[in-house]
Parts: sequence; C-alpha cells; structure tokens
Amino acid sequence: MKRILENIIENNRKWTKEGELASYIPELTRADKDALGICVTTLDGDEFYAGDYKTKFTIQSVSKVITLMLAILDNGKDYVFSKVGMEPTESAFNSIINLETNTLRKPLNPMINAGAITIVSLLSGENSDDKFNRILKFTRKITGNDSLNINEQVYSSEKATGNRNRALAHFMKSLDIIEGDVEEILDVYFKQCSIEVTCTDIARIGAMLANDGVLPWNNERVISREATRLVKTIMVTCGMYDASGKFAVHIGIPAKSGVGGGIMAAVPRRMGIGVVGPALDEKGNSIGGIKVLEELSRELDLSIF
Ligand code: DON
Repeated sequence: MKRILENIIENNRKWTKEGELASYIPELTRADKDALGICVTTLDGDEFYAGDYKTKFTIQSVSKVITLMLAILDNGKDYVFSKVGMEPTESAFNSIINLETNTLRKPLNPMINAGAITIVSLLSGENSDDKFNRILKFTRKITGNDSLNINEQVYSSEKATGNRNRALAHFMKSLDIIEGDVEEILDVYFKQCSIEVTCTDIARIGAMLANDGVLPWNNERVISREATRLVKTIMVTCGMYDASGKFAVHIGIPAKSGVGGGIMAAVPRRMGIGVVGPALDEKGNSIGGIKVLEELSRELDLSIF
C-alpha cells in the first residue's frame, strides 16, 4: 500500500502547479501550494502515508460533516432535515442567490455554507464557547487526536473578512431559518473551520464513517450506522459542491473538501482517506487531492457504484 501511495503522489505532483490558494480568507495564502500528501486508515486501524502527509492545514468545510453528525446526535435526523435540505446544488458553496430562490425555503443541504451555519444554530450548548468546545471534543474523539486545536491566525482572518457568511446568516435570520444570536453562531462556525489538522486526522474520520460509526482503533461506537449512511450519502451528492456529480462519476467515493486543501473520503467497509493539496480549482476543491483520489480509486477499484 505504501508504495502505491508514494507512486500516486509522485505521478500527481505536477497538478499542484495548477490552481490557486484560497485568498478570500487572507491567512490561507500562507499555505504551501506545492504540498501534496495522503494518509489511508484501514478498518483494522493500520495507517499508510505518502508525500507531505505531515502538512498542517485548516479543516474548513470538512468540519461540516462533523457538525452534521453532532446535530443529528443532539436533535435526531428528522429535526435536522426539517431545517436544512438534502438536495445538491449547482451553485457555489457560498452562493447567496440560491438561498432566496430555492423553493425549499431553507438551505439546500448541510455542506454549503448556509446549511452549515444553520447546523451550528441547532447544536446543544449553553453558549457559543460551550458549542465550540463540544465540536472540538467530538473532533478530537473521532480523530483520536487530543491535541487538536484551532489555528488562531486563520480564525481571526476569517472572522475579520467573513462578510459573505454574515450576509447569509443575517438573511437566514430574517427568514426565521436560524434562531439565536447571529454573530455568536458565526463565531462558532469560523472556529470550527479553523481547526488545524493533518491528512491523518481526516483519514481517521473517514475510517470511522467507512466503519459505520465505530472507531477502528478502539471499537468505540460514536454514532449510529443509520446516521453514517445518511452522512455518506450527503457527502456523495453534496460533498464536493457543484462538482459532486463529476467526482461521483470519476472517483465514486463519499468525500468532503475544504478550502484549506483537504479532502476527507470514506470508502464503505474498506478505508478512510485524507489528502492535502492547498492549490484549489475554481469550485474550491483541491486539484492535486482530486487527482490523487482519482488514481487511487482506479488502482484499488474503490468506486462504490
Ligand atoms: O466559510 C468559508 O467560506 C470557509 N470557512 C469554508 C469554505 C470551504 O471550505 C469550502 N470548501 N471547499
């Protein structure tokens, strides 16, 4: 496995020359554009790495899978999906027009920014610190990494410039889609996006999902099988935003991307995969990460279809 991963990273290094770092969050321009790394975690808990797998990056939208799981644990799936839809979108992850024109009268799905902000409003917690601490604690549990924390520079940078997310949140408040203090909800959202990880951390989240909600390294169940099935299905239809269809056709694995350059993937009953490559395509997905997953899927016949 290690040799396969090393070959795939080398074959696809050239792609890091394409695309751009996310710059709408200024601090993300400090990322290493040339980095490309992968970690695979099997359901026996074995781990294989290649390339720049030690590169740290902020989890960004991969965190939307974590908060979706937590919201389902807190409220049950029926309540959660009364507040957000489960439909894919052809608009960008931070689309505003989409929110006003869709007939559901709620965000189309929990993977776009509007949906993820709504999910934060559903989380249990006395106050915003409590909510974020629950997210961090759950993230530490499902990564088996107690030292995870936020990258303060990225958090401050996003908080200072996140006016598009503010627009989405205030618009949703005006429609009674979200309840509570808008700035507090946004603060939790900005913090969850700023959690700093490596591809090993996200590979482990993928392995838990692939293992139907049981942590492979200690056999602890953290969420029901039914919930993981739902989450993986949403990842297939919405996880790569308006590129989810193409990703499903070419790669065929439930996955979630983030503008920090990470992609978390879960191959049901086989493995979790974490890749990092901060150079992004125009949809906000890692260019190198997608190419690496495409070759790995072909090589190991990982498509679920
Ligand atoms: O809210 C934002 O725009 C970012 N914190 C997260 C967006 C993101 O990761 C989209 N993913 N590809």
